[in-house]
Amino acid sequence: MILFKKPADIKWYIAKGQHSGITVGFVPTMGALHRGHLSLIEKAKRDNELVVCSIFVNPAQFNDPLDLEKYPRPVEEDIMLLSEAGCEVLFLPEVSDIYPNGPHKLKDYNLGHLETFLEGASRPGHFKGVVNVVDRLLEIVVPNKLYLGQKDFQQYAIIQKLVDELKFGLTLHRIETLREEDGLAMSSRNLRLDGEQRIKATIFYKSLLKAKKAIDEGQSILIAKRIVSDEFEKQNVKLEYFEIADSKNLNLLESVKDTQNPPVMCIAGYVGDVRLIDNMFLN
Ligand code: PAJ
Repeated sequence: MILFKKPADIKWYIAKGQHSGITVGFVPTMGALHRGHLSLIEKAKRDNELVVCSIFVNPAQFNDPLDLEKYPRPVEEDIMLLSEAGCEVLFLPEVSDIYPNGPHKLKDYNLGHLETFLEGASRPGHFKGVVNVVDRLLEIVVPNKLYLGQKDFQQYAIIQKLVDELKFGLTLHRIETLREEDGLAMSSRNLRLDGEQRIKATIFYKSLLKAKKAIDEGQSILIAKRIVSDEFEKQNVKLEYFEIADSKNLNLLESVKDTQNPPVMCIAGYVGDVRLIDNMFLN
């Protein structure tokens, strides 16, 4: 695996490959890699001749400076995992390479309601930071294909909008959420759960399955919401939101019949002080 730190160097290397006809798949990450991240690398390897991963803990997408400071940075381990997974190129920029004018001088994108509800409501400015960094990384790497996880569905939907409007020729691939055996979506945050909390955390996946079953059996969204909130109350886990949305534009639905596109259930809550999110498609 070749490691680049400077935008101009990686840009030159990738453009040289593309001139000789290879396709480049790109997996942006913030590091602290787990098997969920690696499943994106594996998919990108199946589709492309060259796979590029970036590790950059993006200050612009953190609301809380303490969170940014505490974000794990096991770079040596990440490099080993990426090499083993067969990733060919790693981009490891500094903040000044990504934000020459500083991480507070951000571009405005017209994200509409996508930016301010669900995840955006509890993390103001988060998606603005995400779009700024992804746009900048795409400007440097200029891949043919971009890989994002379904785990962060709202992030995926927002980047889809960016790609549709501004990134012609780039295709975006959504990769299914990789889960632990008991259904918990893999996330670096899971390491912060103690034994009892780790067991409780399966409530997210289990509630999604229960809500899906209810909807599949013809129950209303209102009933599905009640099932989920009762489940959380019973387990004494704090539910932040459970919503069912149109997966194309993320408009919230009152009935699954209100859309032609597959509906997606999105959920967020707290196990202790660890905030977890998950989502699942309905048919
Ligand atoms: P990060 O949280 O490191 O995630 C990198 C990618 O891995 C994202 O596309 C995310 O959806 C995907 N991912 C995380 N857990 C997964 C799982 N269990 N199964 C499948 N994919 C999973 O998301 C970010 O970084 C940042 O916001 C970023 C896009 C890099 C911009 O800074």
